[in-house]
Amino acid sequence: MKSFIVISLALIVVVTAQNNRYTSKYDGIDIDEILKSNRLFNNYYKCLLDQGRCTPDANELKRILPEALQTNCEKCTEKQRKGAVHVINYLIENRSSQWKVLQQRYDPGNVYITKYQKEARASGIKI
Ligand SMILES: *[C@@H]1O[C@H](CO)[C@@H](O)[C@H](O)[C@H]1NC(C)=O
Repeated sequence: MKSFIVISLALIVVVTAQNNRYTSKYDGIDIDEILKSNRLFNNYYKCLLDQGRCTPDANELKRILPEALQTNCEKCTEKQRKGAVHVINYLIENRSSQWKVLQQRYDPGNVYITKYQKEARASGIKI
């Protein structure tokens, strides 16, 4: 009986912890392939701006993005966190006009980007 309770509690903890993360269903996506392809990137871009249709993964991104920004990616998997940094750096360097539009939409007060810049500079990334 005692071990049943312990196991139940352990299960609850595991399930809760998982519920606290964003789905890892799309973690296998090749981000570089999307970033480097105008066609693929524009699909995500338009989805995020409500200007086009959304694939399921783009929809999920759009859904979690405001919260992920607000909470500093608290519920991100490690892969998602690294992916986010990679995407941001890539957009700033290689797709700056589209980056500005997205930033206007999702961070009009420059709140999150300022925070991000501080962290990035602290870890040696120049943005
Ligand atoms: C910008 O694009 C080039 C060419 O695709 C790539 O090598 C470089 O890593 C990109 N910059 C960033 C910050 O990802």
